[in-house]
Amino acid sequence: MTDYRRGFESLQHEVYEPALPVEGDLPDWLTGTLLRNGPAQFGVGDQAYNHWFDGHAMLHAFRMVDGTVEYRNRFVASKSRQEALRQGEIVRSEFATDPCMSIFGRVMSMFDPQPTDNASINVARLDDAYVALTETPLPVRFDPETLETAGVVAFEDDIDVDTSTAHPHVEPETGRTLSYAASFGRPSEYKILGVPPGEATRKVVARLNVDRPSYMHSFGMTERYVILSEWPLVVNPLDLLLRGKPFIENFEWQPERGTRFRVLRKSDGAEVATCPADPAFGFHHVNAFERGDEVVCDIVTYPDASIIDDLYLDRLRSDAPTPGTGYLHRYRLPLDGGSAPSTLQSEERIELPRIHDGHATSQPYRFVYGVGTHTPGNFTDQLVRMNVETGTVQTWHQDGTYPGEPVFVPRPGGTDEGDGVVLSVVLHPTEERSFLLVLDADSWTERARATVPHAVPFGFHGQFFGAPTRDS
Ligand code: CO
Repeated sequence: MTDYRRGFESLQHEVYEPALPVEGDLPDWLTGTLLRNGPAQFGVGDQAYNHWFDGHAMLHAFRMVDGTVEYRNRFVASKSRQEALRQGEIVRSEFATDPCMSIFGRVMSMFDPQPTDNASINVARLDDAYVALTETPLPVRFDPETLETAGVVAFEDDIDVDTSTAHPHVEPETGRTLSYAASFGRPSEYKILGVPPGEATRKVVARLNVDRPSYMHSFGMTERYVILSEWPLVVNPLDLLLRGKPFIENFEWQPERGTRFRVLRKSDGAEVATCPADPAFGFHHVNAFERGDEVVCDIVTYPDASIIDDLYLDRLRSDAPTPGTGYLHRYRLPLDGGSAPSTLQSEERIELPRIHDGHATSQPYRFVYGVGTHTPGNFTDQLVRMNVETGTVQTWHQDGTYPGEPVFVPRPGGTDEGDGVVLSVVLHPTEERSFLLVLDADSWTERARATVPHAVPFGFHGQFFGAPTRDS
């Protein structure tokens, strides 16, 4: 087994390559930019971050035009990173790293809150702004061509939230961006926030009081509803204030609570159904749609929340097996509020799931793309394409390489859900390189690859923007 651990080493080089070496043929219609995000520096001075989710955000841009691939990478110049570099030590708290462990420090930080702006999880376009996202409500705007940081987006509203998902949904019919957020206190609240196109004001679409908020990385959306999957990984909000632990370590696994799906109507914010289900945990909703008197909700899940522990860096760098992938489950949520049965959609493991955004969003659909596990216990070492209607699975694997999240790009003018290519950044540790892989989606065979002059650390999420990100 070639060593995947190379993907958890820091990358300091920021480069610009006008034309990466390309093998094979890029489709002539493939024009646009793949922007990807992920951690690239896992320590400051002699201090180390604890968790994969904690490292300093770096953006990568692959700009494709006329069969060529231009590449650039740059750190997000977050305050979190800049303060840490200036002081030579970790300054702000991250998901599972807290430099400020005294109770005095915690209480002080409530009066002078400095939530991290280390936006390492995803990228999105908010109206005409390209932003990097993490789970604090501080989207960081950047220039899509140079990747230079422009600063935190200032929303023109007074909505106060403590956490926010890095997986917003865009309603295909309206262009409105919907986000899940939470505020901690007495009471704590889940909020669904909407930003109409062309505006910088968030509006509350729905809100729910909650006693013990659940950790939710993403949420589901259908035409009329949003779906919160309230996993039994919950926090007493007082503990966030008093226990002096990193954010996620305040959450407790309480399987006796089970999972609760909260179905909220977008038009008036009403909770139309609360559907209990077996205890489980998941990061990623895949898709959801309405069917008769139920909502179908596809999610990659795990039997419990130990996957969070599995992704601590000391564990990932050890010799212990690294599952890193879960299983696709379909939940059926009765709109009259009965319990929600789930079915396993495939025996093949999957994570970082993607669909044909816009086309398949909130609709009955067929195809899910993701990373998978070829060799049990290895880190993500294959790409999978699942047909959720037939259960058919296609896999792509190259020995000793480690692909990241596959992003589907539709062929312009194509009408079939599977007509297009999939883009994935693949780590090749023995060559000290990564490459951009272009797979034909339907045949699931390689069209081309473009080699990057360094190894890209394992990242999380990216988006393809077909509209030009600069004049040319
Ligand atoms: Co995610």
